[in-house]
Amino acid sequence: MARILTIGIAALLGSTLAPSAMAADSGAQVFKSQCAICHSGAKGAIGPSLAGVVGRHAGSAPGFNYSPAMKQSGLVWTPAALKLYIAEPAKTVKGNRMPYAGLKDPAKLDAVVAYLAAQR
Ligand code: HEC
Repeated sequence: MARILTIGIAALLGSTLAPSAMAADSGAQVFKSQCAICHSGAKGAIGPSLAGVVGRHAGSAPGFNYSPAMKQSGLVWTPAALKLYIAEPAKTVKGNRMPYAGLKDPAKLDAVVAYLAAQR
């Protein structure tokens, strides 16, 4: 009982003291369950590596064969641009080839973008 209480308090403190670290944590889970299948970063993966994607020009990971739509989008992946794209890929970059319907949950969207920002 005392142990359960301690864990509960630790979780509470964690969420008040380090919100961004907590977001990155659940972001890792979202990434693992919804993105990693294509964005593992491995050579030959279906999607490009997303390491260092925040601040990068769209369509610029070396060695990945992007769609013309992505290469010519002119986007820079700021956190705001990433949220728009991940929420509605087909609408945000028309003609792009990411076969993903979109992540609508705002909390998960924030968390996964915080996670991406932490990947260098
Ligand atoms: C079924 C495979 C698949 C899934 C699942 C997927 N993606 Fe993608 N993603 C791609 C492909 C393919 C592209 C390249 C699109 C193009 O060139 O038009 C891409 C491109 C991107 C880009 C642009 C990268 C760049 O270098 O410009 C981002 C950002 C991105 N995906 C984020 C995500 C996130 C975050 C998730 C999970 C919430 C996700 N993707 C899920 C396949 C996928």
